[in-house]
Amino acid sequence: MFISFEGIDGCGKSTQARMLADALRAEGRDVILTREPGGSPGAEEIRRLLVEGAGERWSGETEALLFTAARRDHLERTIHPALARGETVITDRFADSTRVYQGAARGDLRDLVDRLHDLAIGLEPDRTFVIDIDPATGLSRGTARGGVEDRFESLGLGFQEKLAAGFRDLAAANPARVRLIDGRGTPEQVAARIRAAL
Ligand code: TYD
Repeated sequence: MFISFEGIDGCGKSTQARMLADALRAEGRDVILTREPGGSPGAEEIRRLLVEGAGERWSGETEALLFTAARRDHLERTIHPALARGETVITDRFADSTRVYQGAARGDLRDLVDRLHDLAIGLEPDRTFVIDIDPATGLSRGTARGGVEDRFESLGLGFQEKLAAGFRDLAAANPARVRLIDGRGTPEQVAARIRAAL
């Protein structure tokens, strides 16, 4: 199975991806836990161009191309080989992040994003969990973490609100694949909701 976790900055999806990977491994499955942007050596190099520096460093179009290039490498080097070995792949972000961040939140680039996806990626997860939290809560967690990877957090609360709405719309439009998970409560409570949905 190919599973992705999605949501706004600071929603807790990285914790949940790790908890699900640990739980499935404890049941005896072979699980690869990976992330985007990144997940392969080449894509991790592209990641630095994307998450560091000024908020307006790239146009939305250039960003969509860079994320798609990173995803293509991640797919070739990590995801496809693991699925071919029969392993479960859990990724912290995938194509839905580009649909929402570049396609919906930064100008109307959804058509470009969809065409790039069809041309260069063409794969969807079997299941996607969107961790839904209040944007103000997410932003305070992200900012508290500090560090240099704050390009998207630096775009502010209005941007995070647009993203949260974009992820909810995406879940509503893809009910068979995408599940919206209430992100409130302890990590264990959220993990239990995810296991029930899975
Ligand atoms: P990530 O490492 O998941 O950050 P966080 O753990 O803070 O959620 O992703 C880095 C940033 O890149 C994040 O702000 C979301 C953004 N992003 C996009 O804009 N488009 C994409 O396609 C992806 C994969 C990430």
